[in-house]
Order: sequence, then C-alpha cells, then structure tokens
Amino acid sequence: MKGKKIIVGVSGGIAAYKAAELVRLLVKADARTFVTMTSNGARFVTPLTFEALSGNRVIRDMWDNEGTSIDHISWGQESDLIIIAPATANFIAKMAHGIGDDFLSTMVLAATAGILVCPSMNSQMFKNPAVQDNLRVLKARGITVMEPGEGQLACHTEGPGRLPEPGDIMEQAFILISPQDLSGLKILVTAGPTVEPIDPVRYITNRSSGKMGYALARAARRRGASVTLVSGPTNLKPPYGVEFCGVKTAEDMKQAVFKNRPKCNIIIKAAAVSDYRPRDSAAHKIKKDEDSLSLELVKNPDILAELGSARKESDCLLVGFAAETKDLMANAKKKLRGKNLDMIVANDVSREDSGFETDTNIVKIIYSDGQVEDLALMTKDAVADLVLDRINAMWEGSLEHRSGN
Ligand code: PMT
Repeated sequence: MKGKKIIVGVSGGIAAYKAAELVRLLVKADARTFVTMTSNGARFVTPLTFEALSGNRVIRDMWDNEGTSIDHISWGQESDLIIIAPATANFIAKMAHGIGDDFLSTMVLAATAGILVCPSMNSQMFKNPAVQDNLRVLKARGITVMEPGEGQLACHTEGPGRLPEPGDIMEQAFILISPQDLSGLKILVTAGPTVEPIDPVRYITNRSSGKMGYALARAARRRGASVTLVSGPTNLKPPYGVEFCGVKTAEDMKQAVFKNRPKCNIIIKAAAVSDYRPRDSAAHKIKKDEDSLSLELVKNPDILAELGSARKESDCLLVGFAAETKDLMANAKKKLRGKNLDMIVANDVSREDSGFETDTNIVKIIYSDGQVEDLALMTKDAVADLVLDRINAMWEGSLEHRSGN
C-alpha cells in the first residue's frame, strides 16, 4: 500500500464508525488516505475523526470550499482505489443509476480508479430485490462488491448486512491494487505445527506460530492465486479469500495435502510437521502414579518426501522449507535432493530474529540446480513475496520448457 492514494467514501449508516478503523489500517499500511463523507455519513461520525486519523481534510460538501473546485473530478481520477464503506442501499442505488447529487456520488461518477463497494444495511433491506438488482448492475460494470458479514445487526436483527471487517476490506483492497501476476495459479501452502496426542489433554508439538506460512498464503492471494491453506493449530486468523483447511496431526495434514494435490500447480510446505508421534494415544488422561514415564514414539509420514517420490503423477512444483539449528546449507541441500524438490528455503532457527514465532526471517533459497540465493534479514511478508517471485519465474520457465520453446 506504500504511497498508494486511497479514497474512503463514507455514506450514512451506523457502520460509519467501523470506517474509522479502516482508515487507521490504511494509514498504518502507508497508504495516502483521503476521506469524503455524505452529509448523512457525517451525522454518524464527525469528519474530525477522519481528519485526525487520515491527516487530511475531509470533504463533505461540494459547495463549502472544503477542497478545490475540481476535487470531485480529480480525486477519483488521481487515486489508486475508491472504497465505499459503508455503502448504504441508497448510495448503491445512486451508483447503479448514475445519480451525482453530492461530492461522493459525483466523484464516483467521474472516477477512473477501481471501486470497492462494502455494503452495510438491515438484512431485509439487503435482500430487497431492488438492492440486489442494483448490486448486480454494479458488478456487471466491473465494480468489486464485497459480501456483507452475517450476524447480529445494530437494528437488533440477525442476517446478512454487517459491514465486512475492516481487516477483510483491507485485504480485498490489497488484491485490487496488487499486480495479479499469480492469477490462474493454484497454490497449496502448509503452515503451523502439527500436534500429536499423548492422551486427551496432552500432546507433542513444536514452536511454529504459522506466521511464515500464513504470510505466503496471504501474499499469494493478494497477487491473484487461488490459495488453499492447510494449517495446524495456530492463533492466527486465516487470511481473507483463502480456502482454509485446519488440521491437527501429521496424518491429518497428509490427507488434506494429498486430497488437494490434484488441483494444485504449486505446493509450498512451510509447516513444521512433527517427525514423530506417540505410538499410542491413551484413551483417558494418564495419571501421575509412576515416578517416570516412557513414551514410545513412531515416525510420522514425511509428507513432502512422499509428494517428491510421487512426482510422475503430478507436474506441480514442490517447495520445501528447512528449519535448522546447525549445518544449515548441508542439511537443507540434503533435504532438497532427498525429497526431490524444485526449491528449498533454508532458515537458521537458532537466531533470535529468524525462524519460529518471529515476524522476521533470514533465509537462503537453494534451487535444484545447486544455485543458492542468500537473502538479508526481512519481514516474513517480504520473504513471502520474494519466494513467490522466484516460484513464479520457475513456473513460467517450466511452462516454456514444456511447450518446447
Ligand atoms: O511458523 P513460524 O513461527 O512462522 O516459523 C516458520 C518456520 C520456521 C516453521 C518455517 O520457516 C519453516 O522452516 N518450516 C519448515 C520447518 C520444518 O519442519 O523443517 P524440516 O527441516 O523438519 O522439514 C523439511 C520440509 O519437509 C518442510 O517443508 C516440512 O514441511 C516437510 N516435512 C517435514 C517432516 C514431515 N514429516 N513431513 C514434511 O512434509
């Protein structure tokens, strides 16, 4: 979002207060954020709130010298995206029928920027055929319309009509302003730890937070891929727009990966799969009657190695991660060859700023032809984008190779 110019149009619904959080998130993501409100929007939240959050003057009235005389034209033509949040039934109707009777509706009429409409209203109003027809008209014109959330509404009814969560609006905005260079690709990402039960209340696991895998899934979705995220238990919210498959054990993860494999072009295994599991999981809580207790562990399936050895049945690219505390390169290269991968991302998990739980990572990318790319310390989001750049180049190369060019 850095440097992008985003307009937030606030029309008159109770969810106007949630638009304040959206503006905060946009500013946090370094977007140049400008707000315009309808006069009814300004009855719910004062322009001052948005001015304080965006750092820019809010325009509400075309005729009140709040901006320059051509702002209603230039805003929509010089911005990267216009987000209407909340979009009321009335404002949606105005958009569908080309009415420009205030600053926001006129700006939208003259806009050349992409438009994201985030409806919010009473659920009966939302289901009204007139509103549904208007939404269909907007979609047919290439405007992106988010589905409203479901649940309890401010009018004490239940159903569709809640403004989508500001975090989800942000993600949809990211999708709309990002280059869609991964569009058409189907990518499966694994993330997080697996948990292997000892008894109903205890398990063996590891320190994976899921941050690296979720960053990959989110970045791939933003760049247009259809993404399936197979994840062990984490505290993270599945990224917006991603097909999510939650699993617990390595065996569950294997089932989910193999079930989804036929529809994938690329599999990225960032999960930290438990190599061993207790041979038996006790049916009841183990009591502390003995002074010592031995657990017999048996090996879990190596999912990536099985994918690698079954490569003839599928032409998808296989990318692994290697978490090492010593001999990083030697161990990672051994895994790359042993598991028959196209690429492995090696991270030194003994460092405090890298590997498990951190927001940053320092990795080396090792390719199947032996080349190594040594990367600096960066955020996991940046690592994800870079790894996806390399995977995309490899995918395009393999397509050329297959078509004999
Ligand atoms: O989740 P975070 O807190 O953000 O931490 C990120 C991470 C450190 C977990 C991630 O960057 C990472 O390195 N993931 C791989 C961890 C790991 O299990 O590495 P490994 O060297 O044990 O396994 C090598 C590869 O084989 C991995 O792609 C792994 O998913 C896969 N594997 C391993 C064992 C197994 N039984 N099945 C597998 O598929």
